[in-house]
Amino acid sequence: MNKPQHSAFAETAEDAIAAQDATAKAEDLRLGITSEEATQVAMQNTLLTPRFYTTDFEEMDAIDVTPVREDWDKLIGQMKSDPNKGHFKKNDDWVVDWEGMDPALRAEFIDFLISSCTAEFSGCVLYKEMKRRGSNEDITTLFQLMARDEARHAGFINDALREAGIRVNLGFLTQQKKYTYFRPKFIYYATYLSEKIGYARYITIFRHLEKHPEHQFHPIFGWFREWCNDEFSHGEAFALLLKTDPKLTSGINRYWIKFFLTAVYSTMWVRDHQRPLFHEALGVDTTWYGQEVFAKTSEISKQVFPFTLDIDHPRWRPNLDRMEAASRQVAAAKKRGGIEGFVSRVAGMAKATFAFVSLYTIPVVPNEVPESPRMEPAY
Ligand SMILES: [Fe+2]
Ligand SMILES: [Fe+2]
Repeated sequence: MNKPQHSAFAETAEDAIAAQDATAKAEDLRLGITSEEATQVAMQNTLLTPRFYTTDFEEMDAIDVTPVREDWDKLIGQMKSDPNKGHFKKNDDWVVDWEGMDPALRAEFIDFLISSCTAEFSGCVLYKEMKRRGSNEDITTLFQLMARDEARHAGFINDALREAGIRVNLGFLTQQKKYTYFRPKFIYYATYLSEKIGYARYITIFRHLEKHPEHQFHPIFGWFREWCNDEFSHGEAFALLLKTDPKLTSGINRYWIKFFLTAVYSTMWVRDHQRPLFHEALGVDTTWYGQEVFAKTSEISKQVFPFTLDIDHPRWRPNLDRMEAASRQVAAAKKRGGIEGFVSRVAGMAKATFAFVSLYTIPVVPNEVPESPRMEPAY
């Protein structure tokens, strides 16, 4: 079989990564970037960007999807039909003005792209590994399809980054980045949420820019609708996996779900508030954006979680702001170093912990979970 020239057309994650690597090497030659330089860039940025995960693949391979068979087959059929094949590739609408971009905005935007590329690739690595290790056909088929999508997404962001002279070396990341172990059920909660919040983030920006096209300062945002539909499907798959075993969403696990919801929401809040220029350029108020994304994610998560977080509670916003201030304090203290820096860092971490506990102890809003979780992307 002919290997695809571009990751957008690849049918497996492996082919997508190989296509990206080939382009990257050609570009390195053209720009005179040595492989050590490229590696350095990748290393530098991986310290600040999202984590890579590993899990108990045997336990995941043992999942029986019989209780959700009908919905499952429909979803897999949809993903196999591959509506976005070839989409994640530049076309004539792709016009970029890196030179004209304010340098401070450029720095924040590049940070956003690197962090997004790593997050996409983190999904790809986990899904690809599950596919490789598993023998359960339902599970390996799903994970192969999701790995394919994430490899295309990461490849496309890499295309955008290369234009700015940066390359995230995907092969190198796979080998060198540290992996964090999560039990399968934690993978389900964290990944379900990150797929759905990813959908909510991309669609909120896309809809906003539809109304305010003058704020679209880079063409990549024009690709967000199809992009978020992929993420939506991935989230649907995890919703079905969560539905295979009622224990996953009841009893003690309710506390874990609440923990992951609080952690994912507050991390997003803190990270987004660190990119004020990026949001200003988009014409988006970061605080509005955060609450909007939480509201959409909460609404969607009613498909499978027996409650949502109360994001309108009087303790919600002030403690998110406290966490953000604390994270700023910790970052500044790290830079300062010495005893003073150390003391300030410990104090900052204590503040963040208190704020987190205060968020975590807000009473939840109960929810009646429907029989079938399946939903269509509606925003
Ligand atoms: Fe993705
Ligand atoms: Fe995804």
